[in-house]
Amino acid sequence: MNSTNIHQQVRDQYTAALQRAQAKAGGAGCCGPIPCGTAAQFARYEGELDAHPEAAAASFGCGNPLSFAEVQPGQTVVDLGSGAGFDLLLAADKVGPEGRVIGIDMTDAMIETARANAAKAGAQQVQVRKGHIEQMPIAAAQADWIISNCVINLSPDKAKVFAEMARVAKPGGQFRVSDIVARDLPAWVKSDELAYAACVAGAIDEAAYLQGLRDAGFEEVQVVARHVYAAADVQALIASDFVDAGLPQGAWQDRLHEIDGKVASITVTGKKPLTSACCGVAKCC
Ligand SMILES: C[S@@+](CC[C@H](N)C(=O)[O-])C[C@H]1O[C@@H](n2cnc3c(N)ncnc32)[C@H](O)[C@@H]1O
Repeated sequence: MNSTNIHQQVRDQYTAALQRAQAKAGGAGCCGPIPCGTAAQFARYEGELDAHPEAAAASFGCGNPLSFAEVQPGQTVVDLGSGAGFDLLLAADKVGPEGRVIGIDMTDAMIETARANAAKAGAQQVQVRKGHIEQMPIAAAQADWIISNCVINLSPDKAKVFAEMARVAKPGGQFRVSDIVARDLPAWVKSDELAYAACVAGAIDEAAYLQGLRDAGFEEVQVVARHVYAAADVQALIASDFVDAGLPQGAWQDRLHEIDGKVASITVTGKKPLTSACCGVAKCC
């Protein structure tokens, strides 16, 4: 499948997943302190969920990129694949009215929801821009912080995303990204469209992920949190967010054990050097 088709398929799946999450949130008995997006059940949010419950209910993250990030008032945060905007609002709380928070997403329903959530929260410092994270609609050297939550695995061109991150970061700017990595996935998973949308099939090996960030020019790249998924976690991820009535029959029912322990969510940090040593590699200046 080419990049355009992958983007379209991901857009369609997340438009539907958002509708599902919103319907559940509107009905009785769903969510409470746990977001409807099942990925977010693994995201390690704690007190943050109460701060913006509506956005939290449509969260599809797999980590908590802002936890322990030393984001300061007045800084600029860029969120790649900002979805319905939960992390945008948490970032807005940290940067305050003098700061800027810029979300980038390619799915209209997500963009509209994030803008509505920001308006309801009175977060005027939040902007949501439509675009692809492989070609970000933002000038160079803007971001003090780049965050992202369960998105880069969905990109058909991760090297391009990492290079764009290096371009958009200020010299000395930092990133804190939560995402899914995977190793030795069976062919039937890698070719499954549902598994791609559910952040599994497009995930790459952790070592390749870290090397990709270093190749783009980032330094001090390290994993600060890791949560390895059991097969049942992956099942929950797919069944709740992407299908209405449990997993499809066939391989998903019979061979799920083959992915036990092979999928993990990680949070990775790193920074762009203050000098322009990365220019030649990533054209980041
Ligand atoms: C798993 S959801 C995560 C959303 C959000 N970060 C959160 O934590 O709730 C993935 C989001 O990334 C967006 N997305 C996926 N691939 C993208 C790309 N190549 N460019 C821009 N947005 C993308 C989707 O539209 C969707 O909103």
